[in-house]
Amino acid sequence: MKSSYLPEQASTIASDIDSLIIFITNASAWLFLLVTIVSVYYLWIYRRKNERPEYTSGISHNTRLEIIWTLIPTLLVFLIFFWGFRSYLDMNVVPKDALEIRVLGKKWFWAFDYPNGANSVNELVVPQGKPLKFLISSEDVIHSFYVPAFRVKMDAVPNRYSILTATPTQAGTFDIFCTEYCGKSHSEMIGKIRVVSETEYNKWLEEAEGGGSMKPEEFGKKLYISKACVTCHSVDGTANTGPTWKGAYGKKHKLADGSEVLADENYLRESMLEPNAKVVAGYQPVMPTYQGILKQKQIDAIIAYMKTIQ
Ligand code: CUA
Repeated sequence: MKSSYLPEQASTIASDIDSLIIFITNASAWLFLLVTIVSVYYLWIYRRKNERPEYTSGISHNTRLEIIWTLIPTLLVFLIFFWGFRSYLDMNVVPKDALEIRVLGKKWFWAFDYPNGANSVNELVVPQGKPLKFLISSEDVIHSFYVPAFRVKMDAVPNRYSILTATPTQAGTFDIFCTEYCGKSHSEMIGKIRVVSETEYNKWLEEAEGGGSMKPEEFGKKLYISKACVTCHSVDGTANTGPTWKGAYGKKHKLADGSEVLADENYLRESMLEPNAKVVAGYQPVMPTYQGILKQKQIDAIIAYMKTIQ
C-alpha cells in the first residue's frame, strides 16, 4: 500500500510496513472519532436541563456490551502484533545469498566496507534487486543507521555488531540518516545510498578501490567528497572544523604548543592516519583517524589533489 504522507518505497518490505502504518493510523483515527462523537453526544443529551434533573437509571451491567468492547480491541491488538512480528522477521532474517556490507558509524560520518575491500564514506552504492546484509557497528558512541526509503533502522553500538537486511527494488538515490543523538554534528551525519544496476555497481567498486583510469589528482578530488573530507576542510581558504586545504601543502603551520611544522607529504599522511598527533593551532583535536579507511593509493591521490589547490 502507498500513501502520500510516507516517503517513497524502495525495498521489498517497504510496502508491507506502510500497509501496517496506514492500518494503525486509520484504525486510531476512526476509534478516536467514534469515542469522541459518542462522548459528546451523551454529554449533550444528559446535560443538566433544570434545577431538578431526572437521574439516569441504575444500570450496573451489560454483558453483551462488555464482551464487544473487550473482544474488538483485543482482536485489533492481536492483528497488529502478528502483522508487525511478520514484518519484523522479514527485516531481520538475512537471505543466504545476501551481499555483506560493513557499516561503521563514527563521529560524524558513515563508513562502508565492501566485500572486495573497497570502501566509501557517506555514500553507499549497492546493486538493485540483490539482498543486502548490513553488519553495523560504531567506533565511539551509539549511532543509528536509518534508510527511510527502505523502512529500516538499526542502532550502531560500540563493541558489538547489529544486523539488518534489505533488498532494494528501485534504482535511485536515497537518504541515510543518523537517528540517535550522538553529539555536536549529529544533524550532519547524513549519507546517501545509491542503488544502481549490477554492472554499474561492479564498475563503481573498481573505481572506488583504485581510481580506475583517473589521474591521481582527479581521484583525490573524488575522494575529497566521497571520504567526507569536505565536511570539515574547505578548498577555498575558509576555516571550517578543520583547516582549509587551500595552500596547505608546502606551508609552515603553527601548532597548539607554539612549534611549527612543514606540511609536506609525510605530515599530510600522518594527519590522515593519526590526526591528533600534530593539530594546527586554533583547531580542536576532533578529526577521526582514517587508518584502515584510506588505502595507500588513496592517500597518494589525496596528497596529489592537495598540491593542486594553491
Ligand atoms: Cu551519529 Cu547521530
